[in-house]
Amino acid sequence: MPKIRFHMSDGQVKEVEAPNGETILQIALDAGIPMEHACGGNGFCTTCMCKVKQGMENLSPRNDREENMGVMTDPDRLSCQAQIQGDVEVEVIEY
Ligand code: FES
Repeated sequence: MPKIRFHMSDGQVKEVEAPNGETILQIALDAGIPMEHACGGNGFCTTCMCKVKQGMENLSPRNDREENMGVMTDPDRLSCQAQIQGDVEVEVIEY
């Protein structure tokens, strides 16, 4: 299974494994990582935005919801829309 490393704002790094096709948001929540998700993971807010440090090529391509929310440039992705397809490292944005 792919590995995903979450870099927290306090410097902690948490690494978890998750199945292909899972969203970054779901993986974070399952791992107990407090990632914001005001719209419930539907791609209508941006509170779940993360910065991809490595492995952008291992994520699903940007979709219409990300583009509609203006999340169109690297390293930004909406965690609720980006599905993993390999190892990824992301920086969690905490509010
Ligand atoms: S949770 Fe709202 S855009 Fe991802």
